[in-house]
Amino acid sequence: MKVVLAYSGGLDTSVAIPWLKERYDAEVITLTANLGGGQGRSDVEERALAAGAIKAFVVEGREDFVRHFVFPALQAGAIYQGQYSLGTALGRPLIARYLLEVAHREGAEAVAHGCTGKGNDQVRFDLSIAGMDPSLRIIAPAREWNMTRDEEIQYGKSRNVPLDLGQRSPFSIDENLWGRSIEAGTLEDPWQEPPEEAYSLTRSLENTPQTPLYMEVSFNRGLPVALNGDDMNGVDLIQHINDVAGEHGVGRVDHLEDRLVGIKSREVYEAPAATVLHAAHRALESITLSRDQLRLKEKVSQEYAEHVYNGLWYTGFHQDLDAYVKSTQHYVTGTIRVKLFKGSCTVVGRTSPFSLYQHDLATYDKGDSFDHRASEGFIHIYGLAGRTQARVQPLELPELN
Ligand code: ARG
Repeated sequence: MKVVLAYSGGLDTSVAIPWLKERYDAEVITLTANLGGGQGRSDVEERALAAGAIKAFVVEGREDFVRHFVFPALQAGAIYQGQYSLGTALGRPLIARYLLEVAHREGAEAVAHGCTGKGNDQVRFDLSIAGMDPSLRIIAPAREWNMTRDEEIQYGKSRNVPLDLGQRSPFSIDENLWGRSIEAGTLEDPWQEPPEEAYSLTRSLENTPQTPLYMEVSFNRGLPVALNGDDMNGVDLIQHINDVAGEHGVGRVDHLEDRLVGIKSREVYEAPAATVLHAAHRALESITLSRDQLRLKEKVSQEYAEHVYNGLWYTGFHQDLDAYVKSTQHYVTGTIRVKLFKGSCTVVGRTSPFSLYQHDLATYDKGDSFDHRASEGFIHIYGLAGRTQARVQPLELPELN
């Protein structure tokens, strides 16, 4: 049997190669996707082959990631529990798609991933695969093997798997262009402040510049297309914002999160570009969408974040939400100016050719074109039902002192 394994080059997925061979008598093909961020191991292919894979593929996935996952989620305003911009959660369905393509091309009967049995990522992989090809078999070695970390290391050593244990971080980290997710180690005590060493994309507030940085982000139909007036492709734009906003300490999140499997867990994130782009995009929507559009959009944002978090990307539900979101973005075009300073990203300016903000309506100065007297009739009708009810069903009011 051929198995295509999602391979990061880390301990779990390296050990999974000989394990799949022994346990399932499998020929293992590895697939590694570069979704940006991190140094990325330049030697993944060699490592996979050295661990016993028959073939090792590496896919450059940053453009697909930004175009088909990150930007749609940005347009949707998808932020889980108001805190997590879903970097990891958005990466999984793309990796699953790559796994599936390799599996079909190579005639593999199964795909495999290194996720444990208590996280969200296993759900995302399994449901993504099932959503695209329910006949493909899924194997999750780390869900089956019941090895501790030390046992994995012993097992790997006994099979001559190359393990660079020296560089091991005390945390469990997943990183891509849209953010860095950090968990485990000392972070498991929610009373303890995350140690500085947990962070790598953002500077601590003690070390950020003493002067603010202003930045202008331009959007076309809800998609970021330029920075400070310079057109940029999505990958470069995100990378650039990650760098400069990270320098100002923007994008650190310390989240007590609810996993799908029912566990509360302490998750730390660094997502400088996601923080800036969500703030800017929301600000542009506030000036280009109507009150009704904004109200429903907020609910859709929440639904969108939930189902992405829960691994339901490849579903009809997702496609429906996505179609609605796309439709809302028609006039979300314009430029937002943000100020980055000491960890904060503040919107300080907005402009759009489709702005619904009309100065002559809003102004308290001369030039006011709003008909003040017409408000009387408006309030009369607007309050009609209330006056009727107040007459028929008097309210009981509490005594004031
Ligand atoms: N809690 C986040 C999520 O569910 C991050 C998971 C990160 N994975 C990891 N191996 N550190 O998306």
